[in-house]
Amino acid sequence: MLEGKHILLGLSGGIAAYKIPELIRLLVKAGAEVRVTTTANALQFVTEVTLRTLSGHTVYSDVFASVNAHATEHISLPEWADMMVVAPATANVLCKMAAGIADDALTTTFAAMRKPVIIAPAMNDKMFASPATRRAMNELAQWTNITLLDCAEGPLACGTNGKGRMQEPEYILEEIYSAFTPKTLSGKKVVITAGPTIEKLDPVRYISNFSTGKMGRALAQECRRRGAEVTLIMGSMSAREMCEQAVTAFADADMAILSAAVADYRPEEQATTKIKKQPDTTEMTLHLVENPDIAATLGEMKKPGQQLVGFALETDHELEHAQSKLVKKNLDMIVLNSLRDEGAGFGCDTNKVTLLFRDGTQKNYPLLTKEAVAGIILDNIKLS
Ligand code: CTP
Repeated sequence: MLEGKHILLGLSGGIAAYKIPELIRLLVKAGAEVRVTTTANALQFVTEVTLRTLSGHTVYSDVFASVNAHATEHISLPEWADMMVVAPATANVLCKMAAGIADDALTTTFAAMRKPVIIAPAMNDKMFASPATRRAMNELAQWTNITLLDCAEGPLACGTNGKGRMQEPEYILEEIYSAFTPKTLSGKKVVITAGPTIEKLDPVRYISNFSTGKMGRALAQECRRRGAEVTLIMGSMSAREMCEQAVTAFADADMAILSAAVADYRPEEQATTKIKKQPDTTEMTLHLVENPDIAATLGEMKKPGQQLVGFALETDHELEHAQSKLVKKNLDMIVLNSLRDEGAGFGCDTNKVTLLFRDGTQKNYPLLTKEAVAGIILDNIKLS
């Protein structure tokens, strides 16, 4: 996902710096090349050896250090980088960056950076609320190349609870992915159903299926990265609840992608107390009644311009079944996967799909990560 991308990390001296080695690891795992610049104080919290080892490059923390080849790293690093991530950004460094003060390796490098910058502030809640910090953050938020992340609320290093925590490395990573993704779905509303439905028998038991919602979550994530406003309707809930939420959300949406594994039937009766074992019989019969078909319901209410995408997980006569669902439910595209394919189906991180369209065309894809499949599905939908 980040293959070949050059990420320049800037650390300042806050306790949240201890989380940055994990961010470097995640970035390297995603294929990025990482270089690091720090303030002197940042190295009180995380060692130069750790940062150098994980990034595989010399750390730039002292403008005048003789290890620097040309002593102009504050210019060459921003030229090398596709993006800079300042994390953690302390109150001090935020104020300096906003004011244009460049008096150490990190701030001089930032001053020369004209490409996208993500800033993840971290500080005590009172420092976060101080007028100087507010002013600096308001200023930086207006720079067109800067994405300023909010602080999270929770326990702070000083022992209190409040707003000032740095966002977690996974959250920052998602912002980095998002910043590299063209905003092809900007202004669009997307509804996604995902995961299993559950149909209660009594207060302690239910009927469900093996769906984990991974494909739906990957779709929601990719839609967000592309700039869409996403309503993710995630099981576990009953088919009727999921249908109600989907109908409401689809009314003003541009598209719905129905990846949930919905129970076709539910118990006719839902016991209010636990069903007890019957002493004088070895059998039990459950009477089931039909659930609403969410895809067919949305297919009926679909207006011109709205797109509807369904899934078909089959075990036999795959193409035939998928084609018939595409037409019967008035879908624009159906994503077929077969349980006969290894690596496809419930709980896997991968999927092997065939896309079927209304004009009878089909596209086959090899086994790919669910993230990659999500991208392919979205690439194949044309929104007006
Ligand atoms: N679907 C739905 N509501 C249902 C059943 C299915 O929205 N009550 C959607 C699924 O989310 C999927 C598509 O319809 O996008 C096909 O689901 P599937 O279970 O394969 O189809 P069914 O019509 O239930 O057919 P069958 O169970 O007979 O294979």
